[in-house]
Amino acid sequence: MAVNCLVYVSLANQEMSDKHLQDLLKKARDKNESLNITGMLLYRDGFFMQALEGELNDIESLFDVIANDTRHRDVLLIYKKPIKQRGFPDWKMGFNKIDDKSVATIDGYTDFLNNPTPDFFLHRASEAEALLDQFKHQLFF
Ligand SMILES: Cc1cc2nc3c(=O)[nH]c(=O)nc-3n(C[C@H](O)[C@H](O)[C@H](O)COP(=O)(O)O)c2cc1C
Repeated sequence: MAVNCLVYVSLANQEMSDKHLQDLLKKARDKNESLNITGMLLYRDGFFMQALEGELNDIESLFDVIANDTRHRDVLLIYKKPIKQRGFPDWKMGFNKIDDKSVATIDGYTDFLNNPTPDFFLHRASEAEALLDQFKHQLFF
């Protein structure tokens, strides 16, 4: 069955504490596991970017649910495409908080990461993909 990847960005409706993020991830990981969905969620200063990988119907239905979640707004689809293999096969939903330390090590995103806005990525799908890729082998919690 073909695997697809969907990437979106959004803004949190309130500052998300580690506890808020952990609660969100616990439920997300259980549900993703049952749907064979993998991916990565990035968070910085109220900004989210998420990759969802799985069967097209499953990631589209989950994206509908996520897009209506009141914990965030301005949900913007960046891309949706078939992929040969999963980029995050080990994560039912990986998570990384882009803290100041990681900003210093990521080339080319300094301005954006110091003032993240969703529309930065609107016509920059490959940059979104590259940013997610940077966190492929790390897990914040
Ligand atoms: C930024 C963000 C990312 C989320 N990611 C996921 C996810 O990967 N998987 C998931 O099941 N729910 C995720 N959720 C939570 C869903 O919006 C929803 O609350 C959850 O799927 C439970 O939905 P249900 O009770 O209708 O099944 C996310 C929510 C937010 C705000």
